[in-house]
Amino acid sequence: MSGETPILKRIKYCAGNWKLNKTPDETKAFIEEFRKLLSSDFSLNHNESLKDNGAAADQLKTLIFFLVYNLVTLHDSIGDLPIEFGPQNIYYENSGAFTGEISPSAAKSIGSTYALIGHSERRTLFNETDEDCHKKVQAAIAAGLTPMLCIGESLAQRESNQTQEVVLKQLKVALMGITSEFVVAYEPVWAIGTGKVATPEQAEDVHKFIREQLGKIISSKVAESTSILYGGSVKADNAKGLAEKPNIDGFLIGGASLNPADFYKVRGNLFKTQRANESKI
Ligand code: 13P
Repeated sequence: MSGETPILKRIKYCAGNWKLNKTPDETKAFIEEFRKLLSSDFSLNHNESLKDNGAAADQLKTLIFFLVYNLVTLHDSIGDLPIEFGPQNIYYENSGAFTGEISPSAAKSIGSTYALIGHSERRTLFNETDEDCHKKVQAAIAAGLTPMLCIGESLAQRESNQTQEVVLKQLKVALMGITSEFVVAYEPVWAIGTGKVATPEQAEDVHKFIREQLGKIISSKVAESTSILYGGSVKADNAKGLAEKPNIDGFLIGGASLNPADFYKVRGNLFKTQRANESKI
């Protein structure tokens, strides 16, 4: 590194995971409301247009992981808004006799840019393994999607001091041989949908560990440039403390991403923290 602070180089993310929620009409209403919030914010407070905000999107990306049947609605509604989107899961084949699965290349063809992989609900409810995640990461990259790999320990694993061992195995298997860009989302299972958010220190400890391990498994360049998001009961009021930590590059948000005003507030806190960090340098 040439003395620059790595935090500036990594993209920050405000990503919503809608899980099994929202009809196409509700999706459209969400985007309309979100558009109003963004427009008022940027014209009143920052004297910037949505278009300028699009430029800022290089540094702070707003992403939504949606249900596939909302894909067309989302694609049509977003228009010029600086929001990217992707499916919550993909299969590792693009076509064939795989009833009910989601084709990475079809998701890409309609405008998806990311794919969520290995969410703990996929792992625990649908028996997805680290090996499945590896194949999905490869398939996403082959289709031109950036994989966002979810990892995280259960409460029992945390209480028996296995957090590092668990996340390391999840990382190692899923990312074996991967050289293209990816994003990691650390989501401790005990914090998902429980209202029990990890403290900024607890989250930072694991994020730092993940970054160090990426350096060992892949390379120090990848470790420095890979965005590592935190997920698990993120809300506007806890976002700031978490976002201030040097190894936390944004959020993967469940419940609070379903309401445009809540999602917008988390995004705003991330944006402000990012600007504050920049001005300290
Ligand atoms: P909550 O924000 O509702 O805890 O969900 C987190 C999550 O699972 C995001 O993928």
